[in-house]
Amino acid sequence: MENRYSGGAIAYHWIMAVLIGFLWIQGYAIDLGPNATKAWWVNLHSAVGVIATLALFGRIAWRVGHRPPDLPTGTTPLVRISSHAVHMLLYALMLVICISGFLNIFARGRGIDFGFFQFPAIMASDRAITRPADTAHKYLAYATFALTILHILAALWHQLFLKDHLLLRMMPGKK
Ligand code: HEM
Ligand code: HEM
Repeated sequence: MENRYSGGAIAYHWIMAVLIGFLWIQGYAIDLGPNATKAWWVNLHSAVGVIATLALFGRIAWRVGHRPPDLPTGTTPLVRISSHAVHMLLYALMLVICISGFLNIFARGRGIDFGFFQFPAIMASDRAITRPADTAHKYLAYATFALTILHILAALWHQLFLKDHLLLRMMPGKK
């Protein structure tokens, strides 16, 4: 099947799906743990968040240089537009969730500790920024979650009911 995404697009898609899945679960789990270790978990979340942000920039650059494969012939204009809109919205959400995450950590007057490298604090603590950034980050995480569920249901719909093997376009494997 040669009507597939490029190797780079597939690699970025799945690496980011794993990173985002981790950040969701671990992000929500931060508040469940004891206060004494909270700073450590927030730092871990932010460090993994930086990796996700770098992967996102790489992914966007790759996407600009590589056109996605055409949708199967017979796909209606409405489906084409909605699929494109959901994909663009997912990119936009990934970008703004990362930006709000950076505001959230830096406006606490903190840096990010990678163990072998310390990213220094670049701002003084400012609650006028952390409060809205924290709220935005939280609701953006819900929105990304909801849209990804829709995205997965659409992929399953193609696989199980339309049987057009759309999922294989995004699966690693031989050309
Ligand atoms: C796709 C990327 C990301 C996802 C899905 C994500 C998800 C989450 C979630 C679900 C929470 C918990 C929200 C709550 O209920 O309070 C959270 C909190 C947080 N995130 Fe992220 N995040 C992402 C990226 C980032 C990045 C890039 C940074 C910073 C570099 C960051 C910094 C933070 C901080 C500081 C908190 C607050 C932790 C606390 O004090 O409870 N996040 N994130
Ligand atoms: C189990 C989870 C997932 C499955 C099964 C899945 C499946 C797919 C499939 C089959 C495509 C290709 C659609 C086509 O051929 O037109 C795709 C594209 C895409 N997926 Fe996912 N996905 C998953 C998770 C995610 C997550 C977590 C995100 C980000 C939050 C995401 C963002 C995207 C984007 C932005 C595209 C469009 C790529 C482009 O054309 O530039 N996916 N996904």
